[in-house]
Amino acid sequence: MADGYLPAPPGYATLAIHSGQKPEQWSSNEVVPPISLSTTYKQLAPGKPKDFEYSRSGNPTRNVLEECLASLEGAKYGLVFSTGLGALVVLVNHLKSGDHIVSVDDVYGGTGRYLAQVAKKFGVETTHVDASNIEKFKGAIRPNTKMVWLESPTNPTLKVVDIKRIADTSHKHKDIIVVVDNTFLTSYFQRPLELGADVVMYSLTKYMNGHSDVVMGAVCTNREDINESLRFLQNSLGIVPSPFDCYLVNRGLKTLPIRMKQHMHNSLKVAHFLESHPLVHKVIHPGLQSHPQYEISRKQSSGFSGMLSFYLGSKNGKTATLEESTKFLQNLKIFALAESLGGYESLAELPSIMTHASVPPERREQLGISDSLIRLSVGLEDAEDLCNDLDSALKSTLE
Ligand SMILES: Cc1ncc(COP(=O)(O)O)c(C=O)c1O
Repeated sequence: MADGYLPAPPGYATLAIHSGQKPEQWSSNEVVPPISLSTTYKQLAPGKPKDFEYSRSGNPTRNVLEECLASLEGAKYGLVFSTGLGALVVLVNHLKSGDHIVSVDDVYGGTGRYLAQVAKKFGVETTHVDASNIEKFKGAIRPNTKMVWLESPTNPTLKVVDIKRIADTSHKHKDIIVVVDNTFLTSYFQRPLELGADVVMYSLTKYMNGHSDVVMGAVCTNREDINESLRFLQNSLGIVPSPFDCYLVNRGLKTLPIRMKQHMHNSLKVAHFLESHPLVHKVIHPGLQSHPQYEISRKQSSGFSGMLSFYLGSKNGKTATLEESTKFLQNLKIFALAESLGGYESLAELPSIMTHASVPPERREQLGISDSLIRLSVGLEDAEDLCNDLDSALKSTLE
């Protein structure tokens, strides 16, 4: 893996291909798990189903994916949901009115919106804090804090949070569940449960599926009590994915390790290229030595993904205006101007008016989500073509 980082998890690629996929579980020994579309199952006697009873509460194709995801995480339990936000909803429903959440400050915009505008209505309040500052984090914990919500790296400013330190600090308080949204790195590059987290959460929509054709979420945990509660909520809230989507994500996982290695390789090339470009003000990428938490990132991850952000403008002068950022994004030819991330194709976006438009303007300003901040999801195209595309768009916009 990358120099100075943790070693890659042993046996990961083998698990991604084989875990949960035993041909003998199917009547025709299928090597590729079938898509089981039946919504209901013939019972052996009233109230005595063979394996499944109704596909909201369980489905053979979904089971395969849940088992594979859990084993990739080194977890006992895996559960999938119809979206990443669905996984968040289920986790928040595990709490009760009057409970309190401490969340990282630049959390994904949709997560922040749910916490502020929906969970709050039902009596679950959230305090956002810069969790890269441990004293600030400690100060945000209240007697009724029951959940800590981390993203690392955060979105879109890619702050790296010391997961072990935060988990250890949180667990000094009774009953706090530490959740890590591991969407940006996947279980291939970061293993939050081994760092002390109780729950790992994913938008599988991103790297885990990797082909930008499914919206889905997941949760993995080693805690039996949490698994039981979430499984009950999965069925009770009904936030479940279709068997066809489960099949696609299961297929996507087979190439996750090789995709992640290539995303890492390409994004570092692009980051170095942008860092030396005169029309780029500043680059944020955890693999650059200039990143403030470069050392923490190496201590707790085995690599980094294709995500990077940069401020458009000149090195020592002004950053770009909204008009210039808009023009730059429209001038790109290979990078598509689009939300989302983690697919094989490269994407570029403007968080201030796209993914993070729902973040209140004062908080955006505090976090540095300005109109010159561009977020890239570096895909699997040739890195040289990607750099040339960025170079042409930079020059045609700002020169
Ligand atoms: C880090 C992160 N977490 C959660 C989500 C929400 O997932 P979904 O879009 O699958 O509902 C996203 C979506 O962009 C994300 O980027």
